[in-house]
Amino acid sequence: MNLKLLEDLNSSTYLIEHSKAVLAKALEIATNFDVDLEIVRAGALLHDVGRTKTQGVRHGIEGAQILREQGFPKDVVRIAEVHIGAGIPRNEACLLGLPCQDYLPVILEEKIVAHADNLIHGTREVSLEFVVEKWKKSMGKNHPSIDRLRKLHGELII
Ligand SMILES: [Fe+2]
Repeated sequence: MNLKLLEDLNSSTYLIEHSKAVLAKALEIATNFDVDLEIVRAGALLHDVGRTKTQGVRHGIEGAQILREQGFPKDVVRIAEVHIGAGIPRNEACLLGLPCQDYLPVILEEKIVAHADNLIHGTREVSLEFVVEKWKKSMGKNHPSIDRLRKLHGELII
């Protein structure tokens, strides 16, 4: 059903392959934790469903909207909403033009999918340092998201 939704929304082959790679990485991380694997599975495969509408930073909330309309459980909806980077706090969200609220992963299922996505570049797994360098280039050397990324990595990668 999860994959079918991506197909029904005319997702690109790239998006489907990226989502499958994030799914595999999320399940690998999840083996170290006591989490709801059905939520991780659905959330990982559908975290980027909003990219069928927009490629911008709004794809998280667009995806959450699609999943809400499709009747997915709130934990799956939340995964799409808070998966971007290592989460976006309220002050940064306002500056990005998103509705002013926190978009931070809180429960383990949310953290696992967000970080699996961080460690998958396209369809390829990359190191933490690769991601740090990429974010420094795109957001600036001292951007607070880099500390959030390292903290998330420390929490999840054993
Ligand atoms: Fe995304």
